[in-house]
This record gives sequence, structure tokens and C-alpha cells, in this order.
Amino acid sequence: MDIVVSGIRSTGNLHLGNYFGAIRNFLKMQHENHCFFFIADYHSLTTHPTPEDLQGNVRQVLSEYLACGIDPEVATVYLQSDLPEVAELYLLLNMNAYIGELERTTTFKEKVRLQPENVNAGLLTYPVLMAADIIIHKAAKVPVGKDQEQNLEMTRKFAKRFNNMYKVEYFPEPVPYNFGKDLIKIPGLDGSGKMGKSEGNGIFLAEDADSIRKKVMRAVTDIGPTEENQNMSEPVHNLFTLMKVVSDTDTIDFFLEKYNNCTIRYGEMKKQLAEDIIRFTSPIRDKILTIHKDKTYLGKVIREGAEKARASASKTIKEVRDIIGFKTF
Ligand code: TYM
Repeated sequence: MDIVVSGIRSTGNLHLGNYFGAIRNFLKMQHENHCFFFIADYHSLTTHPTPEDLQGNVRQVLSEYLACGIDPEVATVYLQSDLPEVAELYLLLNMNAYIGELERTTTFKEKVRLQPENVNAGLLTYPVLMAADIIIHKAAKVPVGKDQEQNLEMTRKFAKRFNNMYKVEYFPEPVPYNFGKDLIKIPGLDGSGKMGKSEGNGIFLAEDADSIRKKVMRAVTDIGPTEENQNMSEPVHNLFTLMKVVSDTDTIDFFLEKYNNCTIRYGEMKKQLAEDIIRFTSPIRDKILTIHKDKTYLGKVIREGAEKARASASKTIKEVRDIIGFKTF
């Protein structure tokens, strides 16, 4: 039985990338392991939401987690900001996190490029807070998508550094985890890169059928194959990658064969892909709508989750304070 931690920022609705990168793996693990799943609401402050937006997003994301099947009876579901111990561990880890290594992380460099007007210290130390989230429960496994690989590498570095510095074997070095063998990257509909919340290329779990159809029909493709068994361009490969997660094998084989013998009509493929996505998301969407209305239930989940998560976090922080040498008189 491993300790497993995963989280998602509360910056907007969950999309297929979040589901297939993180949630699906978590669902498979929650019954056999000691699992923590949290909403990273401290992390979301790097984008400066209003109090109303912050609250609304947290409620939405929580409803979405639960609608996907994360079971608060077996896993501990909580809000990051309900654990002051995480903020304390973040402070302690920051003392041994170096500006140079933080500046070199890909996600930070990307943020600097995309939003030069808001390069705040929270963005720089994002991987430190993420490490605190994970090692506060002494987790061994972290179900995440491919995009979080480097952050996990940093987590291992910070855990190891702490152990070396205090000559202890206290924190395990957690590994990113995917049920299949490789970490997953779900592509967007714009032809390149990953599906993201802010890239405008995503399909959301709570999205209605018409909107999904429109988005998929507008997805980027190419002029079509001109030779048999031709290598696929990135946009077309991306459509097949999406098909692989939502469609039946027969459907995928059908369109692959058509691609390989140059008879494929992308319009037909997109129509099928849209229907398969809708078939997958619509039961989740229905549950989201129901759960979102039930404020009493949501409140209960969060209060009970906070209590369980704090029991684990406060044990760690007490031991960490001891190791560091903060003695109480
Ligand atoms: P976030 O909110 O960007 O994404 C949440 C999870 O979804 C995965 N994901 C994807 N997987 C595959 N393909 C995609 N296109 C895709 N887009 C997103 C992410 O890999 C992630 O697993 N830093 C984290 C939140 C976080 C966290 C943590 C995660 C904070 N502390 C501790 C795990 C453990 C983030 O920004 O995820």
C-alpha cells in the first residue's frame, strides 16, 4: 500500500487532459492505496483571481473531481489552503531551493515568456510549493501527466537535499505515476502542443454536446495523405491520440486503415470523434451539475477531508521541526 498524492489547480474547469493525465490514474489507485487528492488553490493565486472567482472555481473543480468518481469515503479529498502545514513546509524548503535552479525550470521560463507583466515570486517557487504538497504526506507515487515530470524531478531533489542536509532518511523520493507505462500528454485541438486550460484548445468535462461538436469540427488537420502509409502530421496524429482515449479499438482501426490507404475524410473522423467524446463526458457532466448544487455535501466532503489531511500533515511537520532543531522549551 503506497501513499499517493495528486492535485489540480483551481484555475478553471477540468479538461480531457486533466482527466486522462491525472484523474484516471488516481481512480485506479484509490482503492488499493492511501490516497490524497487536493485542490491547489494556493497555487492558483499566481494568476490573481478575485475572491468570488477563487471560491467559484474551487466549488466547480471539487464538483468535477467528485463527478469523475474520486471517492471521498476512501481517498482524502481536501483543499491545499486548509493545510497551514503545507505553507510551513514550503517556507522551510525555500531555504534550500536555489534561485538558479528555479529560474531554469521549463514551466517558469514559459510563464516569463507568456506573461512578462506578472512574473511573481509565487511562480518562481511554484515547484517548491508542489514539493511541499507531495512530501507533507511522505508520498511515494504521484499520478500526473507528462507536463509535470520536471516538477516531480524537483520534488525528488528537494526531498533528497533535506535528507542529506540533516543526515536522515526521512522523506521518500516520489515518482510520477501512470497506470500504463508512460506518462501521458493529451494534445489540444489546435494542431500542436498539449491541451491546457488557458490555451483555448481544450474540451472540458462540463462542456455541452453542441459546443464539443463545434470545437472538434474546427480542429486543425492537413490536406490529407497522398501516399499509402504516410507518416502523420502532428495535427492528425493528435486527433488519433484523442481517439485512442475515447473511442473503441474498431473505430480507431477503421480510421487508421482509411488514413493508410488515403481514403480518409477528416470531416467524418471528426464527427465520430466528437460523438465518442460526448459519450464519454456526458454522464460526468450530468453528475457535475447535480453535485455542484449540493452545497451541504460539498461542505461535508471538504471539512472531513481537511481533518484527515491535517492529521497526516501535522505529524510530518512536527517531525520535520524536530529534525531541523526547533525545540520547544
Ligand atoms: P494542472 O492543474 O495544470 O493539471 C492537473 C493535472 O492534469 C495533468 N494535465 C495533463 N495531462 C495530460 N495531458 C494534458 N494535456 C494535461 N494537462 C494537464 C497534469 O499533469 C496534472 O497532473 N502543478 C500541478 C498541480 C499541483 C500538483 C501538486 C500535482 C500542485 N501541487 C502536487 C500533483 C502533486 C498543475 O499545475 O496541474
